Amino acid sequence: MSQWIKACSLDQVKDGQMFGFHTDDKKILLANLKGNIRATDLICTHAEADLSTGFLSEEGVRCPLHLSVFNLEDGKPQNLPAEIPLKTYNVKIEQNEVYVEV
Ligand code: FES
Repeated sequence: MSQWIKACSLDQVKDGQMFGFHTDDKKILLANLKGNIRATDLICTHAEADLSTGFLSEEGVRCPLHLSVFNLEDGKPQNLPAEIPLKTYNVKIEQNEVYVEV
């Protein structure tokens, strides 16, 4: 059964920024592209790099290690070497707090 968890305040993931956090059993990335906050797995599906240390652009998040880009809407890699999509999560904002459905 899914539940909403508080991830961070809006101030921690401003436009153009990323924020990584851990739950008991998940590692999640929040990314703010022009006010749209998306959530995906934090760890690259190729070789386990931390995507919060990568690069955010209109294409998505670029892995810092081997430079695969993942679409933030569906988690799909746009180029090799990554082939497996990131899991994506629903996000909601309430009273300046960011929540993720896990
Ligand atoms: S670890 Fe991310 S593309 Fe290789």
